[in-house]
Amino acid sequence: MIPQISSFQQYQEVYNHSVNDPEGFWAEVAQNFQWRKPWKKTLEWDFATANTKWFVGGKMNITENALDRHLATRGDQAAIIWESNDPEEESITLTYKMLHQKVCQFANVLKKHGAKKGDRICIYMPMIPELAIAVLACARIGAIHSVVFGGFSAQSIADRINDAQCNIVITSDGSFRGNKEIGLKNTVDDALIQCPSVKKVIVSTRTRTPVSMLKGRDVWWENEVKTVSSDCPAEEMDSEDMLFILYTSGSTGKPKGVVHTCGGYMVYATYTFANVFQYQPEQVHFCTADIGWITGHSYIVYGPLCHGATSLMFEGIPTYPDAGRFWDVIDKHKVNILYTAPTAIRSLMSFGNQFVDNKDLSSLKTLGSVGEPINEEAWNWYNENIGKGKCPIVDTWWQTETGGIMISPIAGITKTKPAYATLPLPGVQPILVDENGNEILGNGVSGNLCIKFPWPGIIRTTYGDHERCIQTYFSTYKNLYFTGDGCLRDEDGYYRITGRVDDVMNVSGHRIGTAEVENAINMHLGVIESAVVGYPHDIKGQGIYAYVICDKDLEDKDLARKDILATVTRAIGPIAKPDKIQFVSGLPKTRSGKIMRRILRKIAEGETANIGDTSTLLDPSVVEEIIGGAL
Ligand code: WT7
Repeated sequence: MIPQISSFQQYQEVYNHSVNDPEGFWAEVAQNFQWRKPWKKTLEWDFATANTKWFVGGKMNITENALDRHLATRGDQAAIIWESNDPEEESITLTYKMLHQKVCQFANVLKKHGAKKGDRICIYMPMIPELAIAVLACARIGAIHSVVFGGFSAQSIADRINDAQCNIVITSDGSFRGNKEIGLKNTVDDALIQCPSVKKVIVSTRTRTPVSMLKGRDVWWENEVKTVSSDCPAEEMDSEDMLFILYTSGSTGKPKGVVHTCGGYMVYATYTFANVFQYQPEQVHFCTADIGWITGHSYIVYGPLCHGATSLMFEGIPTYPDAGRFWDVIDKHKVNILYTAPTAIRSLMSFGNQFVDNKDLSSLKTLGSVGEPINEEAWNWYNENIGKGKCPIVDTWWQTETGGIMISPIAGITKTKPAYATLPLPGVQPILVDENGNEILGNGVSGNLCIKFPWPGIIRTTYGDHERCIQTYFSTYKNLYFTGDGCLRDEDGYYRITGRVDDVMNVSGHRIGTAEVENAINMHLGVIESAVVGYPHDIKGQGIYAYVICDKDLEDKDLARKDILATVTRAIGPIAKPDKIQFVSGLPKTRSGKIMRRILRKIAEGETANIGDTSTLLDPSVVEEIIGGAL
């Protein structure tokens, strides 16, 4: 099994070793996995061309590590426990044996429909066991999965399918979220009008809402699995073969497909899972993320399963049937590790303690936080009311691009501090740089967070456009991976992530580019131009504030706002809907035509008293007008 750090002194020793001899360190970790053929070279890298290869020449399949390897030792242990949206519906336990069988069977369904190693398969599903099975079945046969979060629109699905040229889509009829029933197959059908590459759609039933099924293209999951065997040897993969694509937002253009590969991602997701949470045998790990995001990929599916853990998968939302649902799930399944997002914590905190006080949370050992900066108030509430002051909180900083956790306490070992991600994990070498890329040394400083040496989970490319990968991550500062985050390092050398320094917003833990929302708003009839910024929001962390110029005076502004929201929902999905839309006659622009977002951010934050220098603006008077109409 994966070595686990057991004391702070050992952390320091292991960390120093990982910096002095990164290849030796990671080779030792990687020995603990099952390889068909050993690697020939541990690492090859060049940040200038964004090329990183780990465990070069090694052959393996991640599902042999996630499933087959455990059959002899823990075949009857729960691999996945599934909890329904509806508390009255019975939960499902899939043991490692059962999960292995279902994955192999569905892998054969994929093969039957022509799927081959290297094909791209889009998965658009609710949080049901079939989602994890579909992901693993792709990996089993060497097909590259591209999971699209169930909240994205048909247009977003189509963009992702076309970018990766997927030939198969796996979906469900619909999904249950709280008291809502949401159609998924219908949305896929809308998307596929624009997607000639897709030849097959496999549909699992969840809501059994009426859906159109096209002869020759669409098949039912349940029917298909009856026609195949449950014996499916894993495809032999190279360490550097692609495992999956996951689309994420940046500061410009359309979302990009972050690519992770088989060997390095497996080692990194599993090592960080075992160490950060200090998972002990038989424990139940509950990560509340959706598998549509990287957190779900790494800490519901791959990390826990490769470590032989029991992973709890929850279909619903924290507030259904009431704001005590998480606590009920923890009590019911005796959850030991809870890994959730600050936005969920703040939302549940706002309901007061009546939903917590009468719940039995005594099984909890470790609490995790991920996705956005956690404010001290939320950290303290989580610590006192959920952890009862005796569960370490691991505030884990990482990104879709990093594959796994990068800066985080190790549960029970690293001394925590509210709102601090604390220290880098072994193998992670953070540095802070100023605007010119000069390293900021010492403690009690802040700057732009970069990483100066590759780790096994690092992004390999952006699908179909390697140049974009170089530009986005490796060009801002020479020979460094740039995270896009601002960060401070305090007197103790502890890291605190302060938020994005680029035009990326973090809304309820969802990453959304301002440019993406602007493009969606600009699609709306009558809109001439728009500018979008994030602003502090009590629950969501950041809210979306849009300044919009229309081609004529609006008679009914409220209706116009609703119309624009409908367009954004169609273009991206409900998660990208602006919280505030202010209609303006102009935007603050420099003489060269660049929008001064700094000013718009100040106004959105309500900081109108110190807007700063406006003398470089083409027309400073627009600022007064915008302040006058601020929402
Ligand atoms: C961005 C990455 C990686 C899991 C989910 C989000 C922000 C993430 C923290 C944290 C402060 C955090 C950063 C990062 N972020 N974790 N513990 N403290 N900020 O993945 O969608 O790729 O977003 O989320 O700004 O760059 P993602």
